Amino acid sequence: MGARTEGALVWDKRDDMVVHESEPYNAEPPRGALADQVLTATDTFYSRNHGPIPRLEPTSWRLRFDGMVDGARDFSLDQLRTEFAAHTVLATLQCAGNRRAGLIEVRDIPGEDPWGPGATSTAQWSGVRLSDVLAAAGLSPGAAHIAFDAPDVSQLADPPQSYGASIPVHKALGAETLLAWAMNDQPLPAVHGAPVRVVVPGHIGARSVKWVQRITAQRQPSDNYFQATAYRLLPAEADPSQAGPGDGLSLGAVAVNSDILRPDDGASLPAGPTEVAGYAFAGGDRGVARVDVSVDGGRTWRQAELDDQRSPWAWQHWRCTLTLPGGEVEIIARAWDTSAAAQPESPAQLWNPKGYVNNSWARVHVTVDR
Ligand code: MTE
Repeated sequence: MGARTEGALVWDKRDDMVVHESEPYNAEPPRGALADQVLTATDTFYSRNHGPIPRLEPTSWRLRFDGMVDGARDFSLDQLRTEFAAHTVLATLQCAGNRRAGLIEVRDIPGEDPWGPGATSTAQWSGVRLSDVLAAAGLSPGAAHIAFDAPDVSQLADPPQSYGASIPVHKALGAETLLAWAMNDQPLPAVHGAPVRVVVPGHIGARSVKWVQRITAQRQPSDNYFQATAYRLLPAEADPSQAGPGDGLSLGAVAVNSDILRPDDGASLPAGPTEVAGYAFAGGDRGVARVDVSVDGGRTWRQAELDDQRSPWAWQHWRCTLTLPGGEVEIIARAWDTSAAAQPESPAQLWNPKGYVNNSWARVHVTVDR
């Protein structure tokens, strides 16, 4: 943590990003940097990449619509801007690997980065509704999935493959699903998918395809490696190197999750009242119903104060002032969503070979003066 890396310089990120890989650039902000603001500043927003980041020329960029539509059609950025109404959605992106570090503590996950609680961030995304462009392209009634293709080639697939994903057609037709060219009122930066990316609020970040250049309406989900083989939840005993297309459970809507952003894990605190603060995100089209905090291992809980919901697609921050006992203290938080699902207690029960969906109770350990 701390040193300004080459990646941060190139991608205009803050100095203290936790850089898991510089090539391709994979970085998250330190947990404290996400505290308090609904909107994550663009220089603080995590970035997850599977291959080299392309720098595309916006004037020559074209977005092809094909498959189960009334004939293939290309759109320029100018056409998207002028032929469709612009919309803005405040939405959280959350990587399926967010909080993987907690699973790695249970058992090692070779080949996967130990993301902390910062592989999630929230921005104001502006662009056009995917549904409007699909309607203009003439979507056929039999289409069940909308697939996205991007030009960045990943060596993680064997043989190397460009990045792609798909979402069910009902999600593609949701008013919240955008083809976005702006993030926090500024043109989308290259690292976040310029000139245009897909934003699929409520679903794992992997479906929000950056640098999108082709959108295909089809009967089946995408057969791209990152849809068919990766971003699938394998049983704990499975060997991920043997996993093939269709194995495990395809990840779509995010599961309810939260983490503690302040105090920092490992902090030394003076005696007296301590403000504990964090985020909670319900995922899917669910809301956050409640956040509980415990300092006695979950025997008793206090309810945190939850900020107002600014958007059905964004996280909510929460806070709670506690008088902590002196010595070593574990602070725990758990969120409940509007379907009455709560975060499960232990990462041990959630462990899976690729390290996805760690939504176990949030825990930080602090030392309090006596
Ligand atoms: N799109 C492309 N083309 N290539 C990628 O590697 N990574 C995905 C998604 N879209 C990816 C992509 C994943 S796993 C996540 S979590 C989000 O982008 C991260 O978006 P961000 O880098 O803007 O935070």
